[in-house]
This record gives sequence, C-alpha cells and structure tokens, in this order.
Amino acid sequence: MSDQPEAAAPHTHEKREHWSGQTAFILAAIGSAVGLGNIWRFPGEAYDNGGGAFMIPYVVALLTAGIPILFLENAIGHRFRGSSPLAMRRVHRRAEGVGWFHVAICFVIGLYYTAVIAWALSYFFFSFTLAYKDDPAGFFTGEYLQLGEAGTVSLSFVPHVLIPLAAIWIITIVVLALGLHNGVERLNVIGIPLLVATFGILVVRALTLPGAADGIDALFTPDFSALTDPNVWIAAYGQIFFSLSLAYGVMLTYASYRRRRSNITSPGLVIAFGNSSFEVLAGIGVFATVGFLAHQQDVPVAELDGLAGPILSFVTFPAVIAQMPGGPLFGALFFGSLVVAGLTSLISVMQTISAALQDKFGLHPRGSAVAVGVVSAVLSIIGFGTTTGLYLLDVVDQWSNQLGIVAGAIAMIAAALWFGGRSRELQRHLSAVSTLKLGTWWLVLVNAVSVLLIYMFATKAVSLARDGYEGYPTSYLAIFGWGTAAFLLAAALVMPWLRWRRDIVHFRPWPTRQQLGLPPGRDDAPVEGSAS
Ligand code: PHE
Repeated sequence: MSDQPEAAAPHTHEKREHWSGQTAFILAAIGSAVGLGNIWRFPGEAYDNGGGAFMIPYVVALLTAGIPILFLENAIGHRFRGSSPLAMRRVHRRAEGVGWFHVAICFVIGLYYTAVIAWALSYFFFSFTLAYKDDPAGFFTGEYLQLGEAGTVSLSFVPHVLIPLAAIWIITIVVLALGLHNGVERLNVIGIPLLVATFGILVVRALTLPGAADGIDALFTPDFSALTDPNVWIAAYGQIFFSLSLAYGVMLTYASYRRRRSNITSPGLVIAFGNSSFEVLAGIGVFATVGFLAHQQDVPVAELDGLAGPILSFVTFPAVIAQMPGGPLFGALFFGSLVVAGLTSLISVMQTISAALQDKFGLHPRGSAVAVGVVSAVLSIIGFGTTTGLYLLDVVDQWSNQLGIVAGAIAMIAAALWFGGRSRELQRHLSAVSTLKLGTWWLVLVNAVSVLLIYMFATKAVSLARDGYEGYPTSYLAIFGWGTAAFLLAAALVMPWLRWRRDIVHFRPWPTRQQLGLPPGRDDAPVEGSAS
C-alpha cells in the first residue's frame, strides 16, 4: 500500500519531506484525530446530548461535514503543496491570513493540550500505587493541581505538574526535530497500533465488570426529544470538527506531505471512520467503567456526577480504579492510552506550526521544530504549570476551540470556494488522483455546511459576549477569552505582511488545469513573488 511512483507528475524543485507511503499517512492522520477528544470529550458529550439519540446528529455531522471538509482540507494541502499559509496563499493571493489563523489556533491549543497530557503522565505513575485512592476529587484539585482561586492569575508553580509538563515538551521537541519521517511518522507507526491494543484490552476488561451493562445502557438509551434542540446538533458538529482535527490546518499540512500521485479520498474515509470507531469504542469502555462505579455505590448511573471533561478522566476514573480488582494495571492502561493518544495529536498540531515557519522563513525542519517547541514550552509552563492553569485552560479552550475553529473553517471555505473560485478545480483534483471520485454533491455539501457553520459561529459569539462563560469575572474573560480571539485575528492580519524567504513563485499545481479539463487560470502564469 505505498504511493505510486511519481513518474508522470512533474518534479518542480520542491524539497518537501514526504511520508514513506499511504499507510504512514493514514496512521499519522488517525494519530492526529484520535486524541483526548475521543477518550474524554466524546463520552461526556454523547451522554449530555441525548445519549443514544446523539448518534443520529453525530453520524449526520460526520457524513455531511466531517468527511466533506476533510476532503477539502486534504485537497488544498495536496494540490497546493504547502503548510496552511503557503497553500492558502496559492489558493488566493489574499488568503494567506487564513492559514496563519489556523497556525495561531494550533499554537494556542498546543499550549494547553500539553498540560492535560502532562496530568495523564502523572496519573500513569500514580496508578501503580493508587496514590489518589483515598479522595480522588480532593487529590486532583488539591494535592495534585493545588488549584487556586478561579478568575485569578497566579505565578506560583506546582512542581509535580511542572516536571511531567517539561518532559512532554522535551519528547515533543525531539520527535519534531527528528523530522517528518524519522520522528512524526515513527511515533505514529508505533503509537497507534500500541494505542489500539491497550485500549482494546481496557475495553474488554471494562465490559466484564459488574454493572458494565447499566453504564452502556445509560450512554445509549436514546432521548429522542434531544433531536429538536439545536444545541444538540451544534454539539455534534463541534465534536466532529474537534475530533477529526478539522479546520486547524493539520489535515491540510499532513496531506501536503503526500506525493503528487496519491490516492486522497479513500484514505480520507479510512481516517474518518477509523476515528469515529475509536470514539464509539471509547464511549463504550468509559461508560462500562462508570456503570461499575454506579453498581459499587448502588445508585443509578444517572445519579453519578462528574461524567464530563477533565473530571471524568481525573476524578471519576481514579475513583473507579481504586475500587476495582486489578485497578493499578487498569489505571496504567487508561492513563497510558491518554498519553499516547494525546501525544500523537500534539505532534500534529506542532508540526502544522513548524511547517508554516519552514515555508515562510526558509527554516530547516530541525531549527523550526526547536524554535517552535522551546517558545511553546516556556509559555505553556508559565500558563499551565501554575495553580490557576486549569481555569486558564477552560477559558482559552472556549474561545479558540469553540469560536475560533468555526471561524477558521468558514474562512477556509470562503477563501477556496467563494473568493478563490477553486471549487471545480479541487473537486477534479481529488477525482483525478483518487480511486473514489467526487461528484457535485461534494461541493453542495461543503457549501451547505458553511451556512450551518455561520449560524454556529453567530450563536456562540453572541452567547459568549452576552452571558460570559461559567461565571468567570468579565475582566478575566476580556483578557484571556477575547484576548485569545484578538491574538488569532492579529496573526491572520499581520503575518501576511512579512516577506516570504523562499521561492513560492515557481509553482505549478499538478494535474494542471488543462489536464483537469478547466480553462487556463492564473496559475498558468507565475504568481508574483513575495507577499506584499
Ligand atoms: N483531534 C484531537 C482529539 O480528538 C484534537 C486535536 C485538535 C488535534 C486539533 C489536533 C488538532 O483530541
């Protein structure tokens, strides 16, 4: 299953790194998609939004938005052969900022995603001695995070968060510096099978616990009235975007490392369905375990608290692990899986940033990796290694992930299809290189979804502006929430003004427009050089 030789594809003088083949690409893309979102976000979202009935909007969102937008991102990256800013610049000379918007979101996410992986790394070690067994809730927020007051900023560092945080950053920098092939690819080729195996064992064990069936019942019992609630639909689309790493420029960048002659659509389906299968599997495993907890406490699952977000993984799970025969092993498998799943996603985020800096400033992959890694590590340690890190994480996540990402998706669609006029070209590009051909339906779906995205963006923006978020002080939200939004915008507006340090002029997409049966377009004359 490797890429076909590049025979008929022209060699422009690109020195881009490449995946060793199709399997490597699929594993890396799955590595990006399968992450904390699958293990802790999905089960909670499904449970809160109609249980089994949530599967309907979820599957609809996967088919109408997830897969079509994955194809779009892959198409842009593959045809225009670059990091997000470079590829978007080639899509339309004024669209470079969209790429920087993606990169800025990745930068923000990288800072706090690492923190959660660091917690999981600590909990991996705590599991061997069940350090958290007496009082999992008090242990997490008190002894471990030493949580300060919400809505404040503290600079007192928590040493036992600092150490794993630094460790995760060192691993990340080393993997990135090893390059796409020896670092990123190898991590995924080893990590993903390992993850599937550990998680598989975990789920089987969970299913054999007393009460497992009640937990699964609770997750999948459909509440069909949820389907009339627009928020449930928004939650489903939001979950699909986050989970498939869509509109972060990650899937775009990863596709740019495929050879010109590479099948794009069928692997896309493997990635999308692989990710969702893992997600549903995680839901089953997590709720089977939760069912055991309810069984131990002799209460219905519905009466348990703490079934979402960090609390599910770092408080509820430890509580179960502490009561379970073979708990330490179960705990180590669970937190070990979180670390591996998180790490392969984090690497994809950092690679997206590093690729952009390589393209724009002509940096060597290693130099770029180290620069990005060190800057991020320092900021991440200052922001999230302290006693108020959890709150900062919560707020920054809302603005970057819930609001920013939707804007990033809309901007990408608008730039490529509406202003860039690339609809037919991208559709034919995908069909020309892939075994699975796309019809006009693909374009119809992408356009239709953008209407929904605009609605999602507006509702979210209005609600954050009007109601604030989770009762945090307005000034805190102004600085860290809206400040994050301002940072994303600033990156999009300022970065395109800087000069390209490498030649982006001599670029011809392949297959050419003519080969795709399209009238000649602006790519048939050299685009002008440095961005103005
Ligand atoms: N898809 C990852 C997850 O499910 C998160 C992620 C988002 C990774 C964006 C990369 C980019 O956890």
